[in-house]
Amino acid sequence: MSRNSIKIISVVGARPNFMKIAPFIRAIEMHNENSDDTIDHILVHTGQHYDDRMSKAFFKALNIPDADINLGIGSGTHAEQVGNTMIAFEKVLHKEKPDWVVVVGDVNATLACSVTARKELIKCCHIEAGLRSGDMAMPEEINRLVTDRLCDLLLIPDQLSEKNLINEGALQHQIKFVGNIMIDTLEAQKEKAKKLEISSILYNNNLFGQYGEKLVKSLSEFKDTDPFALMTLHRPSNVDDEKVLAQLMDFITNEVSQELYIIWPIHPRTEKQLKKFNLWESIIQCRKLLLMHPIGYHEMLRLNMGAKIMLTDSGGLQEECTVLGTPCLTLRWNTERPVTLREHGGASVLVGNNIKRIRAEFEDTISKNRKPVRPELWDGNTASRCLEAILNYED
Ligand code: UD1
Repeated sequence: MSRNSIKIISVVGARPNFMKIAPFIRAIEMHNENSDDTIDHILVHTGQHYDDRMSKAFFKALNIPDADINLGIGSGTHAEQVGNTMIAFEKVLHKEKPDWVVVVGDVNATLACSVTARKELIKCCHIEAGLRSGDMAMPEEINRLVTDRLCDLLLIPDQLSEKNLINEGALQHQIKFVGNIMIDTLEAQKEKAKKLEISSILYNNNLFGQYGEKLVKSLSEFKDTDPFALMTLHRPSNVDDEKVLAQLMDFITNEVSQELYIIWPIHPRTEKQLKKFNLWESIIQCRKLLLMHPIGYHEMLRLNMGAKIMLTDSGGLQEECTVLGTPCLTLRWNTERPVTLREHGGASVLVGNNIKRIRAEFEDTISKNRKPVRPELWDGNTASRCLEAILNYED
């Protein structure tokens, strides 16, 4: 393949993809500015996440150029999302005939586009390869397994991931340790985030317009120096089971709120479930619970920098906590990101959704100061290593 004619399609679909693709696009732009070879790059958005707050806001905040092609897939069952993405993406591949398709993360777009690319005999690269939770009940685990089995080039964020891939039959020459691309975005944006005021974030993103006086009062009582916990929750294992969700809400509103404010940007899936299970009315009565819309990248980063503790089921936040040093209770029984766990030097501990365990770890964690260790190559320069690996790839 001649380097001066290379054409790359990169794919995004859902919120956690945007912070991974931004530095990759920047690396392509830098390459094109500094080299005689030009990379022809096309950005495809599958449209799995479509709300302004879940998608457009991230493009703007992270200076991601508008997608060249939006497949407009939207919501649906997993089979609908994956099937519709494959049908639409196949047409894109027929028209554009790229040399490489680059997929990131573990969302439905990652799976759908890697399968389609390989069936069209187009080389495919996975950024964030090799992560395994071992939990086949997680849709993302299925996405990771299939994607990694098919991709030509597997770019791994940590060395633990190499063993997973080799055990599954990947060949050594396919695997390259590049570090964590999401940390490129964190490093590039942290100074801007630091300048934001927490109380302004709360005023600009809160739900009080919709949900009345009580929340207005809580917000006006909050001071920037008040300690707070930051929470996110969206995994089916936590939000789709009524009993599990009700117990978690009880713990947050009756116990955590005795010690700290809780700032909670609510994922659309979770808001729907809380309303469906009739839990919404009672949680909005809790004065210490500050409910937000899904918030922007810099806002989340600023809150994470200031939080006393994080409670989350998001993989990306576990990683960001490890770099920022925010103690993190991971509301899952397993993780595909063991490098973020305390036993590997990270900031996070697995607590599942057992309230006794969450309570014990919560008390233990807020009483201690810790300094987690930054994993190797999480240095802000991963994107250029990814691009180099693609350009230097040999079958
Ligand atoms: C997806 C990813 C998950 C990622 C998460 C981050 C998969 C399998 N899952 O899960 O890995 O951690 O995104 O957010 O790809 N919705 C909106 N507006 C939007 C997007 C979604 O209202 O812009 C609603 C949908 O109608 C749906 C729900 O939120 O009911 C869930 O969206 P979906 O894309 O199915 O998956 P997520 O749970 O967001």
